[in-house]
Amino acid sequence: MLTELRDDKWKALLDLLQHYYSALSDQSVKPQVVPGSVYASLPEQLPDTPESFEKVLSDTRQLIMPALTHWQHPGFMALFPSNSSFPSLAGEVISSGVAINAMMWDTSPAATELEQRMMEWLRDLCGLPSHWQGVLQDTASTATLTAVIAAREKKTTHRVKNDGFSGLPKMILYTSEHAHYSVEKAAMSAGIGRNNVRKIQCNADLSMDTDALRMQVEADLQDGHLPFMVCATLGTTSTLAFDHLQEIAAVCNAFDLWLHVDAAYAGSAFILEEERGVMAGIGAADSYVFNPHKWLFTQFDCSAFYVSDPDDLLTVFSVSAEYLKATREQGIINYKDWGIPLGRRFRSLKLWYVLRTFGRKGLQDKISRHLELARTLQQRLTAMDGWIMPYPMHMNVLCLQYRPERLKTLAEWNEVTRNILDEINSDGRFYLTGTTVEEMFLIRIVPAQTEVSRDTIEALAELIEEITMRYA
Ligand SMILES: Cc1ncc(COP(=O)(O)O)c(C=O)c1O
Repeated sequence: MLTELRDDKWKALLDLLQHYYSALSDQSVKPQVVPGSVYASLPEQLPDTPESFEKVLSDTRQLIMPALTHWQHPGFMALFPSNSSFPSLAGEVISSGVAINAMMWDTSPAATELEQRMMEWLRDLCGLPSHWQGVLQDTASTATLTAVIAAREKKTTHRVKNDGFSGLPKMILYTSEHAHYSVEKAAMSAGIGRNNVRKIQCNADLSMDTDALRMQVEADLQDGHLPFMVCATLGTTSTLAFDHLQEIAAVCNAFDLWLHVDAAYAGSAFILEEERGVMAGIGAADSYVFNPHKWLFTQFDCSAFYVSDPDDLLTVFSVSAEYLKATREQGIINYKDWGIPLGRRFRSLKLWYVLRTFGRKGLQDKISRHLELARTLQQRLTAMDGWIMPYPMHMNVLCLQYRPERLKTLAEWNEVTRNILDEINSDGRFYLTGTTVEEMFLIRIVPAQTEVSRDTIEALAELIEEITMRYA
């Protein structure tokens, strides 16, 4: 490895990335490829003899790069971003380079202690309760699964962990009908069963209807079930709606339910004090997740999972084995005991680079800028005849439908909106996705990519204007 690092292979690698980023904004955000073409271009058999690094690098350039969807393109406004930055890349390169495993303190003291400190920095940066402690996970889905398992064990005083579900009433988990599907998946994976997930109806603003929640818990108790957990969302995936935590916390308190909060995307915006109003009640949560890999310029994967009491994790996930005996165990964090995986990536390093080189102010400026760009785009688009936003815009997620005078039914509005979305995407400079809420098809626009600028927003508004004229 050392010899290769010294020779020009390393330079060739950096050249590839430098070239990728310098040409990025001239590329189509989505590749022009047909399904199966990359697969077909790869030999059926692996090579018997070594191939040169240069040849593999050249094939990367020719076969792989042209078939990538460019998530770091400024015109990527689909789904939620998974953004990056140079400091994050630097941290990731070093972490890959040293190739350590952050499973236990013993297996790399710096990785454990840096993670411990970064979780505190991040917690304080986002205005989260100061006694919370956190751990980095790969994704919000894993964090939510971890929370569901911990909540299940707390409710049953560790019975399921030891003996399985036999003899227990049905355990019931509550979430809103607009929660991310990872909640249902977590319930399935934790043995709760998807039929025992109650998707509570929502208010007009798409937040969970807390009266309905309370009534459902009461009905389940009457039926002899065992309610154990509520998963609330701060920033739903479709429209970025916010559940009312204070009201939900009151229900959790009354019925002794674990409160997990999923702020996967919106959580990054809490670095701005003015965005924290929607967090009211957060102090009552038992667990919380947000993804710096979505909107805090830290590349995938990096999901911050917090608990109000780490013992809720440690009493479930600390499983010892002779071959894992640490040399020192007292007062030391072994993050393998805070979740499911034993082996863990050294994720805290990229976070350290990001938090230090942007600083609180740099991060706040960047996110404020994204919010401002979204407001500019909102003004531009809603000033055009026919474009409506059926729900209040939260932060920087725009959800729009096109309803020209000449069309009268929801089916027609849905169809024309879908057609416009296809046309926007076939232009190549942007990638947007849609969603369906209350049977309305909506175009979602999320200007949150690290390099998105006023010019990008202007160009998108002009393109939408031009396409709309053809459908007016
Ligand atoms: C609200 C919400 N929760 C959870 C997730 C899942 O995130 P991950 O890919 O980190 O599992 C998403 C993804 O967009 C999301 O929007």
